[in-house]
Amino acid sequence: MGDVGREHRWRSVIAPLERFRVDTLPHAAPRPLELLRPDLFLAGERLRRKLRTADLTVVTPRRARTLYRLACSVERSNIPGAIVDCGVRNGGSTMLLSEGAPSREIWAFDSFEGLPAPTAEDLDGPLLPMGAWRGSIKALRRGFESYGRPERLHVVAGWFEETLPVAARQIDRVAIIHVAADYYAPVKLALETFYPKLAEGGYAIVDDYYSFPGARRATDEVRSRFGVTQPLVWDHYWRR
Ligand SMILES: C[S@@+](CC[C@H](N)C(=O)[O-])C[C@H]1O[C@@H](n2cnc3c(N)ncnc32)[C@H](O)[C@@H]1O
Repeated sequence: MGDVGREHRWRSVIAPLERFRVDTLPHAAPRPLELLRPDLFLAGERLRRKLRTADLTVVTPRRARTLYRLACSVERSNIPGAIVDCGVRNGGSTMLLSEGAPSREIWAFDSFEGLPAPTAEDLDGPLLPMGAWRGSIKALRRGFESYGRPERLHVVAGWFEETLPVAARQIDRVAIIHVAADYYAPVKLALETFYPKLAEGGYAIVDDYYSFPGARRATDEVRSRFGVTQPLVWDHYWRR
């Protein structure tokens, strides 16, 4: 075999490995619990990669797979209620949830103007410029042409302060509330609005609990206000 042939053979071995960036490996590796359902692990990971490649989600691999797995779980166990996603950017998290629970009405809330200014409760954590993570309704709707159930999708654009109290009147019961809004005030408002509607057996998921102290503080306050004793799983969700 000549040099060219040898190089070609090695390239075909190495090319797929190069697609894994080393810094994402710890998040990409499955947790032992995920391997109890390898089918869900693989389906969630495949979907997550497609969404990431299309810039539809910025959720880390394990958290993205968790969204898909928990949505499959409420669907399988017939936990009643809609799915509510607060902080959707281009909608990848919403698509993961809708793919996992295709029979559910799915609500996507976002300013589509990116992050608001932080408040005093956020100042000891990472601070992003106003408008960071700006998403688009167009990208979200286009994504829903390929993933999830567009006929069940309700998109509500605007600041949570204005949209959540109004939309909440139309949502009786919730099977999953997912919040990915980074800062104290929006996380607190989303949980305060929808946690009382969460069905028994449903899930509350706070994407930023671990990485944003304001989001953690908001979650701890809401958990204490509603007397939640269930432990947080993997630092970001609990089952009611
Ligand atoms: C990190 S991004 C969400 C990522 C998304 N879940 C995904 O799958 O990639 C955070 C989102 O929260 C939204 N957001 C933060 N605070 C908000 C508020 N008070 N009202 C409305 N949207 C808000 C931002 O516009 C942004 O799209």
